[in-house]
Amino acid sequence: MRRFRLTVACLAVVLAACGGSTEGLFGGELYNRSCASCHARDGSGGAGPAVGVGSNSVQLSDEQIAGAIVVGPGTMPSFDRLSDEQVDSLVTYIRTLQAQ
Ligand code: HEC
Repeated sequence: MRRFRLTVACLAVVLAACGGSTEGLFGGELYNRSCASCHARDGSGGAGPAVGVGSNSVQLSDEQIAGAIVVGPGTMPSFDRLSDEQVDSLVTYIRTLQAQ
């Protein structure tokens, strides 16, 4: 129960942080802050499709993944406020999730 409450508290913090600054965050830290709520920490998906190992994203080029992040297809929000370096770091991080 304690563990559950802690998880809920953490989730609330993550959700609150979603609207907050992602400045200075890259790779896994940025992914866990901005993407994991829909795509799961391990990339296995949830509200959004899986982006990790065995997913459709494996077939996508780096440019296509970066494009999805910036545009926000369908119901995915756009992350066009991220710098090019941040977007690149997310693509690199997603590739590491796909290799696991
Ligand atoms: C609010 C939920 C949500 C968040 C947050 C979110 N996504 Fe998505 N994402 C989605 C949904 C839903 C789709 C599928 C959109 C469609 O094609 O209709 C998607 C699609 C994608 C795709 C394309 C997958 C494919 O198979 O075509 C990638 C790559 C992706 N997201 C990466 C990210 C990254 C990286 C972040 C963080 C910067 C992120 N997403 C944040 C919901 C989300």
